[in-house]
Amino acid sequence: MNTSHPRLGLLGFGEAARRLARDFTQAGFTGILAYSRSGARAQPGDPLHQRARAAGVTLVKTVGTLAKKSDIIIVLTPGKSALPALKKIRKYLRPDHLYVDASSNSASNMEKAAALIGNAAKFVDASIMGPVDLMGIKVPFAASGPHAAAFRDLMTPYGMVINVVGVNPGDASAMKLIRSVLMKGLAGLLLETMEAARRRNILDEVIEDCSVTFNDIPFQKIIKRYVGGTAVHCERRIHEMKECLELLHEMGSSDRNTRNTIAMLRDMVKMGMPVKFTSEPDTIHPVIDALIAARDKA
Ligand SMILES: NC(=O)c1ccc[n+]([C@@H]2O[C@H](COP(=O)([O-])OP(=O)(O)OC[C@H]3O[C@@H](n4cnc5c(N)ncnc54)[C@H](OP(=O)(O)O)[C@@H]3O)[C@@H](O)[C@H]2O)c1
Repeated sequence: MNTSHPRLGLLGFGEAARRLARDFTQAGFTGILAYSRSGARAQPGDPLHQRARAAGVTLVKTVGTLAKKSDIIIVLTPGKSALPALKKIRKYLRPDHLYVDASSNSASNMEKAAALIGNAAKFVDASIMGPVDLMGIKVPFAASGPHAAAFRDLMTPYGMVINVVGVNPGDASAMKLIRSVLMKGLAGLLLETMEAARRRNILDEVIEDCSVTFNDIPFQKIIKRYVGGTAVHCERRIHEMKECLELLHEMGSSDRNTRNTIAMLRDMVKMGMPVKFTSEPDTIHPVIDALIAARDKA
């Protein structure tokens, strides 16, 4: 690998690649190359060439050229195209290539990609954790696999924000998806709560009241309190949640999340949580471990 600054190749040249390339150029990269199928077909004068030039990028006609003239290859194709693209470029990879798959993909596809590469290059599973068009090079990446730290060390001096999150390929992509369980699920809970509040004409009051709780407590403490508290008090909370459900029914409000909460509390009782945890533990680990053990045994 070049010791001064790495030669950068982008596999895929869409919205994310264009914005990142512009910022990489500003950060001092020169001679950035990119390959996409439409880029390979584009004739001189095609707007795609103009867009590439504006971002400091030269479009190449083959993946072989991209591989030959790059030290680090960042994959920015749609998720479903990442494995087909890898199959096409694989025979041109060198053991000193850093091959960073930044497509949105499942953990199992990242594992497949890592297995397909084997020792042909250094594979990194990299998940983009925010909007590239808004954040550019500052968009946080979660990276995993044995070469994730090398990716971080190589690219943070240019302004990238790379958080190494696991030792195995797939961990970074799993983290992005698992995070969505909370973020998207929270949106569902908020919608159900706010709908009920609006039906009762106390929407602003409920927002204000809930905000006091959430604004005042650091999120790590919220996780600890809510997970630990549920293990200890799941039995009596079933009663309270049944009353919530009744109220939602009376108002004709949506109730999917509340029914789910009752089902979750019943599960926790069946798993014997109130017997195992008579007071809130210091960390959530024993609760989560007990939950996994009970679920795996069932
Ligand atoms: N944009 C964001 O803010 C953002 C945020 C988080 C994650 N991501 C992820 O980053 C990746 C890229 O996103 P994007 O928004 O830039 O997508 P995009 O605008 O759809 O661009 C995808 C690029 O990949 C190329 N491509 C498709 N199949 C290919 C193949 N087999 N070989 C080579 N190139 C191929 C496409 O061109 P051709 O079809 O002409 O080949 C196009 O240049 C996606 O996986 C996305 O989920 C993006």
